[in-house]
Amino acid sequence: MEGLIRKNILSVKPYIAGKPIEETKRQLGLREVMKLASNENPLGASPKAMQAIRKNLPNINRYPDSQSFYLKKRLGKYLNLAPNNLILGNGSDELIDVIIKTFVEEDESIITADITFLEYEIISQVAGRRIIKVPLRYFKYDLESIKKRIDRKTKLIFISNPNNPTGTYVTKYELEDFINGLPEHILLVMDEAYDTFVDVDDFPNTMNYIKNKNLLVLKTFSKAYGLAGLRIGYAVARPEFISYMERVRQPFNVNFLAQVAAVACLDDKKFIRRTRRLILEGKSYLYDNLTKFGIPYVPSVANFILIDVGRDCVEVFNQMLKYGVIVRDMKQYGLKNFIRVTIGTKKENERFIKVLKKVVGNR
Ligand SMILES: Cc1ncc(COP(=O)(O)O)c(C=O)c1O
Repeated sequence: MEGLIRKNILSVKPYIAGKPIEETKRQLGLREVMKLASNENPLGASPKAMQAIRKNLPNINRYPDSQSFYLKKRLGKYLNLAPNNLILGNGSDELIDVIIKTFVEEDESIITADITFLEYEIISQVAGRRIIKVPLRYFKYDLESIKKRIDRKTKLIFISNPNNPTGTYVTKYELEDFINGLPEHILLVMDEAYDTFVDVDDFPNTMNYIKNKNLLVLKTFSKAYGLAGLRIGYAVARPEFISYMERVRQPFNVNFLAQVAAVACLDDKKFIRRTRRLILEGKSYLYDNLTKFGIPYVPSVANFILIDVGRDCVEVFNQMLKYGVIVRDMKQYGLKNFIRVTIGTKKENERFIKVLKKVVGNR
């Protein structure tokens, strides 16, 4: 039987998603469960997105617009770029796949960090492409060491900025240096799934590099915009890069309701402001309490925090689950004593701290 499977698929470790709320309720017989495991927006989706979906429901018998015309136009205006600088994806996940298929030859390789978004590695392996994982330094992407690993065969570099699961970031000065030193045969992918949550002044504005550099920037509606369930993300790059990616993607990859919802909520400043405020307040509450109880954490510019629980993270995950709190254990990332928690509502954060204290105690 195994002889029928492609060899590189045999060694792929499947992506483990955050445990769903309904599944947890069913398995543990719990009535109240909260999920702080997938960096979703605890406020839900923008009311404007929901209204647009309700209005457009009668049209779901039709295929979606394969060019996402209105959304590209809207996004172009929003980013001060042209529609042909953009490609939409069924989540930014899909675009990682499209990027690898479009740009990386069989004998070429990909570089990323050792502890980062797992999909870079999984999708590379599935495509049969070599991926080199450079260790983080103090939980941060080590750009100097990445530079040293570049050779003739390197084609792509993935940087998650901010980095999932550490919440650390590459500064604009670091990126400037790095990008200017990159050889011409390399394409840099900056994955900015969490950029809306960032509240520091030295975060890079990658849009400044789109015109002149071999750069692809990934963005998503899954996090701050609260549309994770609809699956929609996009990439920004020079039109030459985008046009080849357009050949690779499936024609109807982005569904109709996702398109109309994204158009409707892109400019919902009120919702984004409310989301950012909630995350920043929640973060400050969590930092204070983790510090008070002597539980170490990595300071984060995103909507999640990496926490050192000081013992087996799967055990901690399972014990917290019994209290109806779903977090993410970091075993798959190779951080055996860490969990990652998504910042939730005030009530969720309070419950999380209470349960964490019960499970790991004062340290
Ligand atoms: C760094 C990073 N990039 C991309 C994604 C994928 O997001 P999407 O829902 O747009 O596929 C995630 C989701 O967790 C992420 O953490």
